[in-house]
Amino acid sequence: MKVAVVGATGMVGEVMLKVLSERNFPITELLLVASERSVGKKLSYKDKEYAIIGLADAVAAKPDIAIFSAGGDTSLEWAPKFAEVGTTVVDNSSAWRMDPTKKLVVPEINANELTKEDKIIANPNCSTIQLVMALAPLHKKYKMKRVVISTYQSVSGTGVKAVRQLENEMAGVQGEMAYPYPINRNALPHCDVFLENGYTKEEMKLAREPQKILDDRSFSISATAVRIPTAGGHSESVNVEFENDFDLNDVRKLLNDTPGVTVQDNPDTNTYPMPIYAHDKDEVFVGRLRRDESQRNTLNMWIVADNLRKGAATNAVQIAEYLVKNQLV
Ligand SMILES: NC(=O)c1ccc[n+]([C@@H]2O[C@H](COP(=O)([O-])OP(=O)(O)OC[C@H]3O[C@@H](n4cnc5c(N)ncnc54)[C@H](OP(=O)(O)O)[C@@H]3O)[C@@H](O)[C@H]2O)c1
Repeated sequence: MKVAVVGATGMVGEVMLKVLSERNFPITELLLVASERSVGKKLSYKDKEYAIIGLADAVAAKPDIAIFSAGGDTSLEWAPKFAEVGTTVVDNSSAWRMDPTKKLVVPEINANELTKEDKIIANPNCSTIQLVMALAPLHKKYKMKRVVISTYQSVSGTGVKAVRQLENEMAGVQGEMAYPYPINRNALPHCDVFLENGYTKEEMKLAREPQKILDDRSFSISATAVRIPTAGGHSESVNVEFENDFDLNDVRKLLNDTPGVTVQDNPDTNTYPMPIYAHDKDEVFVGRLRRDESQRNTLNMWIVADNLRKGAATNAVQIAEYLVKNQLV
């Protein structure tokens, strides 16, 4: 496969190259793409150096697959240009996710929807991916009615600038701010931009994307997204009301039997998921499984995953692997 990695110099781009290499993705030619600011800079992949090229040169090279992690505006403008020359685009931005003509894919859940005609495929939001990985098997068995979620999101979810802001603040150095307030020793109830309804865009992604991925609008989701000074992954406190009752041991077993999900849940040994231990892992970790004692058929849980891996790069590479395996590119 001739593969273009668009946004190769970014936070997700760096992990994308790592994941492609670890999983030995069948690459015959690799194009590393970023903004004009980075053209000519060198990056290495599997011990070989590559010079960064611009988007126009990458389109002219007609790659088989282009994996985009370069922001929504870049995707809106350039993904159609790649699609026009026959490239299949897997896009990490929010640009195409809710477009009814585009598929929103978590491979473990709905990769079977993909066809050769899908030239722009959307990767869901990082917090959505880890949420639906845990919700999908539970929904299938107990049928969700309503989900209430609060997130505790890593600065790596905002990109290079935000990680630098946290590092600067920890070192007591003045620098460029990615957030409107300090993030060290703080919690910002503000992820992505505010919308007219008073929610942030991140909260609305969490409310809308799961319904599309699970192809079911019968349940509702309400979200509060919070940025905290961690770097290893996103955490989520999730309350789910089901139509049908459940047994906690069955829930634990069901989640543990779900490919890509690992249960870490034992109060006796202080076992629960945490971002520093989820860092650099592909699994979605679930713990603190409890019955909500205030309401029937309702479960509380805590979900943690590395937002740069399963929340972005790993999920995108899994989509690309599915396309290759099923001869859809
Ligand atoms: N971080 C996460 O956890 C996460 C998870 C899921 C999805 N995403 C999405 O992935 C994308 C990248 O996020 P990130 O965290 O990696 O951000 P980042 O660290 O700020 O990196 C941005 C990347 O995009 C490139 N870029 C920016 N403007 C460009 C342009 N006009 N043309 C070509 N390339 C351009 C940058 O190139 P230069 O270095 O040349 O500026 C850089 O490679 C975003 O759409 C984000 O929403 C991020």
